Amino acid sequence: MASSAGTLAAVILAAGRATRFKSQVGLSKVLYPLAGLPMVEHILRVVQKLQPEQIVIVVSPETQEALLNRFGHLYTYAIQEPQLGTGDALAAALPAIDVAADYLLVLPGDVPLITEEALRELMTSARGADAAVLTFEPPNPRGYGRIVRDEDGRLVSLIVEDSDAEPEQSAIREVNSGIYALEQRWVERSLERVRRECGKENRKGEYYLTDIVRFLRTSPVLHQPWEDLMGINDRSQLALAEDVMQERIIAAHAHDGVSFMRAETTYVEASVRIGVDSIIYPGCLLRGETVIGESCQIGPMCYLDDCRVGNRNQIVYAHLVKVHSEDDVKIGPFANLRPGTHLAESAKVGSFVEMKETRLGTGSKVPHLTYLGDAEVGRDVNIGAGTITCNYDGFDKYRTTIEDEVFIGTNNAIIAPRRIGKGAYTAAGSTINQDVPPDALAIARGRQVNKEGYAKRLRERKARKRTADEGVSDEDTAAPESHLDTKEQD
Ligand code: UD1
Ligand code: CA
Repeated sequence: MASSAGTLAAVILAAGRATRFKSQVGLSKVLYPLAGLPMVEHILRVVQKLQPEQIVIVVSPETQEALLNRFGHLYTYAIQEPQLGTGDALAAALPAIDVAADYLLVLPGDVPLITEEALRELMTSARGADAAVLTFEPPNPRGYGRIVRDEDGRLVSLIVEDSDAEPEQSAIREVNSGIYALEQRWVERSLERVRRECGKENRKGEYYLTDIVRFLRTSPVLHQPWEDLMGINDRSQLALAEDVMQERIIAAHAHDGVSFMRAETTYVEASVRIGVDSIIYPGCLLRGETVIGESCQIGPMCYLDDCRVGNRNQIVYAHLVKVHSEDDVKIGPFANLRPGTHLAESAKVGSFVEMKETRLGTGSKVPHLTYLGDAEVGRDVNIGAGTITCNYDGFDKYRTTIEDEVFIGTNNAIIAPRRIGKGAYTAAGSTINQDVPPDALAIARGRQVNKEGYAKRLRERKARKRTADEGVSDEDTAAPESHLDTKEQD
């Protein structure tokens, strides 16, 4: 597809070892999550907006597998082995490019805050030169290559790596983003010259892609704000990138009509969608593919991961994973709703309720202190406080069915598999181990026995014993006494 500077193929360099992340698990740096998406996925999303003919990702054998798992064959992978530097990485990409593009857009895999605007500026400037590079002025240039401009300041004459810089070069504030647009027809022979003429006689002992500017007329494109071009080499930079990304994500939702109270206390991942007029109160984590409807009140302190929330929901102090709630549902405070929970319209789940793999029908209520697992609950059902579905026998899980308009009394244990028929009642304190027919009342608890005067007699006997014991020595009182006098029990 034609961009402002001709046709385009993109190359993303992602074969490097993330030594500065100091990880023991060996996750590729470009797969570290930023706002819930792998770093490289942010880059891919932006690059795709420029509609390149092809996207090639340079990988090591180890990163290739992880990327394939995530993206499948959406992109072309070029393997770089061994990893001899960024210049070598781009050289490894060239045989994999099978489109004739005017320009190569080259990006490192660790610049996840890159924006479409910055890339378009770059592509526009590439026209009229052999190449263009995005540059920026961070507050602290340490770690970045310095841009040495030529006499009239219009072209880049040199990029000097931080570790190779002379003191006067270190003082330069303009640095290299590592993002270049290169006219494709010059790339192969220029990289060859980098290899032959520059070699890897530098501090890192690598072929530097930055040396390509020695052989190409390269326009510097100074971009603001600097954060857009930040490179992520260590985890403190990753944390800073999270802050920037959160500001962007929240600003975008706010722009679309979502309110945030103390937005800095809330974390919203990149794929989350929120409907207009919803309010997000402090301390929320909204993750994954969560979609929230319109006019909802979420928070304070809610965790939602991969949830689908209808309109006008109120969710307070709650932990929800893979929950689907329809319109006008109320949840919390203090609910733990696990995968497979489905709450139909106007359902209510109150405090200290845990649910999983359970469907709660329209208008049904589970107000407090309840566990519902593997249950199908109809509409207009009321579940009394302290109800437990006993769904697990240590080997298998069993389902409970509670039909429409059932009233479950307080403190019931329902031993699955069980069906409670439409309109039935169960008495408080029941252990339901048989099905209940529709419209029946099930009472499944011990009958109460009152023993007249028992408590009084017990007190008197205890008092008599205490008086007798005070007359004898400690050794004689050592025998334990049972708490209840069993003679009086039946
Ligand atoms: C690089 C630039 C530096 C620039 C900075 C911007 C060079 C020599 N330096 O430094 O001028 O200011 O980026 O963030 O290019 N990679 C490979 N194969 C390799 C080596 C690296 O694929 O053999 C990939 C890495 O996975 C990474 C990218 O290239 O995504 C950049 O490598 P990195 O080591 O992070 O370079 P910097 O030291 O940050
Ligand atoms: Ca880097």
